[in-house]
Amino acid sequence: MRAVVYDRYGSPDVLRIEDVEKPLPKEDEVLVKIHATTVNRADVHTREANRGSGLAASALSRLVFGVRRPRRRILGSEFAGEVEAVGPAVTEFAVGDQVFGNSSLRFGAHAEFVCIRESGRMAHMPAGLSFEEAAPITDGALNALMCIKAADLRKGDSILVYGASGAIGTAGVQLARYFGADVTAVCSTKNLELVKSLGADRVIDYTKEDFTKNGQTYHVIFDAVGKLSFRRCLDSLEPGGLYLPTDGFVNLMWALWTPRFGDKKVRFQIPPRQTKQDVLFLKQLIEEGKYRPVIDRCYPLEDVIEASRYVETQQKTGNVVLTINSAT
Ligand SMILES: NC(=O)c1ccc[n+]([C@@H]2O[C@H](COP(=O)([O-])OP(=O)(O)OC[C@H]3O[C@@H](n4cnc5c(N)ncnc54)[C@H](OP(=O)(O)O)[C@@H]3O)[C@@H](O)[C@H]2O)c1
Repeated sequence: MRAVVYDRYGSPDVLRIEDVEKPLPKEDEVLVKIHATTVNRADVHTREANRGSGLAASALSRLVFGVRRPRRRILGSEFAGEVEAVGPAVTEFAVGDQVFGNSSLRFGAHAEFVCIRESGRMAHMPAGLSFEEAAPITDGALNALMCIKAADLRKGDSILVYGASGAIGTAGVQLARYFGADVTAVCSTKNLELVKSLGADRVIDYTKEDFTKNGQTYHVIFDAVGKLSFRRCLDSLEPGGLYLPTDGFVNLMWALWTPRFGDKKVRFQIPPRQTKQDVLFLKQLIEEGKYRPVIDRCYPLEDVIEASRYVETQQKTGNVVLTINSAT
């Protein structure tokens, strides 16, 4: 099968398309013929061994994914496609079923086929969606859902979503709205209308206004793009308020420290907790018309380098999809 592989950490130029062995499903696995996948921040960070996040993060990344070179040669975690074969113990899926899901840190989805455990983060595709629309359902939404669950968001709680136009942010706005929160979203001018259409009650353009200086306070501040800090948000949090980060070692320290000391807290779910039930929940929201993945650009698999460069600009709106046209 064709796959995008890499043998050393570095820029998008380390990626190339190669013929590799097609995986065989184990007893409890499903072999999926992939029609669409995505390039997301996890792919680009892992490909460069997280060197943009500092030495400690890079060392940890290499410990997990391979010290000298990547142990798993194929990136890509989100997928949508058709079941090609199933292991003998599989009961939930059958050959020909249309499925979508997320292989998480096992990656392997930038390829024509991937094997996923039946109990993994995979479900039948929501009715009426194309493969391109189904591939980006999980990445931003599972991350956003994990954060919002950690905040135990209730009806009427006020939440500010910072970076509301990214993969996690576009999902965060919709999920916060679904849970009945009062949503203030922050993004740049070009994304104001989109973010409003996702259900934000009000939108702040960060190129014109600094929300930390306008005197407003929120029960929850969700930094969906890793550009804020707990300290900077302190005055914008209500007493007992929560700060939800999506990355950063320093936030891990705050998450350990603030439950014991002080009134305002940082909640950071490490290790990440994302389940098959979460994927089924997202499928249900889509079928009820309460969630939609936002797609910025679609590239053919062959243009993976260009797609990765675009994701690295940190200016994508929602998600970037790769389409795979198999020869067989
Ligand atoms: N996606 C993942 O797999 C994953 C997993 C775990 C953690 N994370 C972390 O989660 C964060 C977000 O990931 P993501 O994939 O959702 O990001 P993303 O989609 O790449 O975010 C892009 C968006 O960020 C906005 N943005 C860029 N600079 C900004 C700034 N200074 N202030 C406000 N908005 C800004 C841009 O919108 P404007 O044009 O409006 O500025 C753009 O729409 C990152 O910190 C990442 O490391 C990601």
